[in-house]
This record gives sequence, structure tokens and C-alpha cells, in this order.
Amino acid sequence: MILASVQFYNIVFRGFAPFISTKFEAVLTILKDLDLKGDECVYELGSGKAGFLRAVEQRFGNKKLTGVEYSFFPYILAKIQIALSGSSIKIIRKDMFKVNLKEADILYCFLSPEMMIKLEKKFKTECRPGTLVISYHFKLPNSEPERILKENNDNIYFYRI
Ligand SMILES: C[S@@+](CC[C@H](N)C(=O)[O-])C[C@H]1O[C@@H](n2cnc3c(N)ncnc32)[C@H](O)[C@@H]1O
Repeated sequence: MILASVQFYNIVFRGFAPFISTKFEAVLTILKDLDLKGDECVYELGSGKAGFLRAVEQRFGNKKLTGVEYSFFPYILAKIQIALSGSSIKIIRKDMFKVNLKEADILYCFLSPEMMIKLEKKFKTECRPGTLVISYHFKLPNSEPERILKENNDNIYFYRI
């Protein structure tokens, strides 16, 4: 009950994104576009079940994979799936705005317009130049995307910080 109330407050009053997974087809579209060496440090911000990270791990074998998820239910689901599959993905239960992103090479997000406004400032002050931000559905309000992929009617934005 307390957890649900906190979640309700965060979604309604703080503009935090609810727990909805990226469509599998969209993840496949992104993977087809990426050419990773396997040593990149990849974050999924608001990782939910960490579907993007699990797909990257399977396809490219990356070891530095971190999901950041503040909500208990998706956090536990992801931890169980990761443990059962013997994956090396790390999931941190934390508000993403309190996580330093300076080590990231790639950041994946599927969040909300409100969160993209705040994240844009964080990316610009914290991330190294050249960091790739991939955002499903939602734009960074003041940045020009390097490219946009389409999956059905959904846009996937690629930004270079
Ligand atoms: C739309 S879901 C996306 C889940 C997953 N990344 C995917 O694409 O399948 C957004 C997730 O972000 C989480 N989230 C929202 N605000 C957050 C915050 N400030 N810090 C960490 N996680 C957050 C939510 O709990 C939810 O699981």
C-alpha cells in the first residue's frame, strides 16, 4: 500500500514514467542499427525488466550493463530474471537523477516528456562528449537527434552528447 502510494505520487506529481516495456520489435530495430564492440558501458535508465540490456548482452556480449530502477516491483522482476539466466547485468534500485552517468557510453531510455526535460540538463553536465543517448518515443527538447528510426508509428531518437 505504501509502495503503491509512493509510486502514484511519483507518476502523478513528479512526472516519473510508469512501468511499460519497450516493444520487442523496437528493441530489435535498435539492435540492428547498433554496431557494438562489447566493451561499451551501457545504462538503461528506468530499466523496468531490463529488456534492452538483456538484448544487448545476448547480441553483443557486453559486460558493463547497468539498469537503474526506483520502483520495487519491476526491480525485483528484473533481478529474478537476471539471476535465473546467469546474466551479469547489474540493477541499481535508485532514482536515476541521483546516479552519476559519467562512465556511460550508451544510455537507453523510455520515459516521459517531463523526465526528458530534466535528463537533458543532466546529460549535458555529466556525460562525456560522444555518449550516445537512445530514447524510445520521447525527444530531448532542445537537442537535434543524430538520426531517427521508425518502428511502426513509434520514433526512436538517437542523440550524441
Ligand atoms: C516506460 S518504463 C520503461 C521500462 C524499460 N526501460 C523498457 O523500456 O522496457 C519506465 C520505467 O522507469 C522507471 N522510472 C521512472 N522514474 C524513475 C526514476 N526517477 N528513477 C528510476 N527509475 C524510474 C519506472 O518505474 C519504469 O519501470
